[in-house]
Amino acid sequence: MSEFEKKVVEYTQKLNNSKNLKELNSINSEIFGKNGIINTEFKKLGSLTAEEKKNFAANINKAKQELTNIHKVKITEILDQDIIDRIKKEKIDITLPEKEFRIGKVHPVSQVIDEISCIFSEIGFSVEEGPDVENEYNNFTALNTPENHPAKDMHDTFYLDKDMKTLLRTHTSPVQVRTMLKGKPPFKIIAPGRTYRSDSDQTHTPMFHQLEGLHIDKNINMGHLKGCLNYFIKQFFEVDKIKMRFRPSHFPFTEPSAEVDIGYRIENNKIVIGEGDKWLEILGCGMVHPNVLKNCKVDPKKFQGFAFGIGIDRLAMLKYGINDLRSFFDCDYRWLNHYGFDPLDVPTNYRGLSK
Ligand code: PHE
Repeated sequence: MSEFEKKVVEYTQKLNNSKNLKELNSINSEIFGKNGIINTEFKKLGSLTAEEKKNFAANINKAKQELTNIHKVKITEILDQDIIDRIKKEKIDITLPEKEFRIGKVHPVSQVIDEISCIFSEIGFSVEEGPDVENEYNNFTALNTPENHPAKDMHDTFYLDKDMKTLLRTHTSPVQVRTMLKGKPPFKIIAPGRTYRSDSDQTHTPMFHQLEGLHIDKNINMGHLKGCLNYFIKQFFEVDKIKMRFRPSHFPFTEPSAEVDIGYRIENNKIVIGEGDKWLEILGCGMVHPNVLKNCKVDPKKFQGFAFGIGIDRLAMLKYGINDLRSFFDCDYRWLNHYGFDPLDVPTNYRGLSK
């Protein structure tokens, strides 16, 4: 074995045994540097005959290639190990106590749900809940919605299966069905929750919040509905008078049906509620259709009542002067810090809702 071949074996071992980048770099320059073993060997070429040169140079190049390959493998090995070591070292001990506290804020939607629940509990409504994933029967069929109703269209409803049997509820009205089917009248409930429609602009988001109301008893009429909503709107906006209008409307599950708008105006890019000549629709309502009662095993000859569905996010926008609904769901901590509520300031009827 020539001197050079011995060196190649020696440096192959050195490369393989190197433990870190620093070591690897210095071995690297001992091999490939200006005075490294490769260059030193190349310098010998000058004293050789043309015939000898060929073989000699080929041998050096072969050795050079082998050492380069080993070097490459080794460098990735060392870098990988470096990452593994760092991950091991940077482990977070989640059992350690928190050093810095950031006080969270209650989202305006949660605040408004708490406020609304307070207001309705004062006049005898209890709170019910239903699932976000509903079946087609509870969301449409039981609610007297005809097969060809536009709301059933794929453009409006998020279906979860091909045969359109499960869906993300498009309103909280299926909770009416669930409540009536599991109990006996009278019913006096509200049901807040998430609802979904394929829609998005300044006042619509694909996921939004509604609050359903249902009051079924003997001799309930439209006057009770108006009185109830009037009481609610005034309490909610914490005012004695509010500009509000009932507009005739249509829902398959109520007859007669109405939509309620609230008057507002925009001042300095902010919403001012209760006055002005702009209207924002905030709820749909009506007397529960006899077919819905029948579908829910309630005798329409003995019982009747009203239902309403309120857009919770819209109420929050109006009350707290927020003018883009989409910002509700951006998860921006700065926004929440500005519009959010103190978690210890729980709304109550006796202490005040939002003050
Ligand atoms: N579910 C209706 C909607 O989402 C609102 C509504 C509820 C209307 C109850 C009447 C009665 O638009």
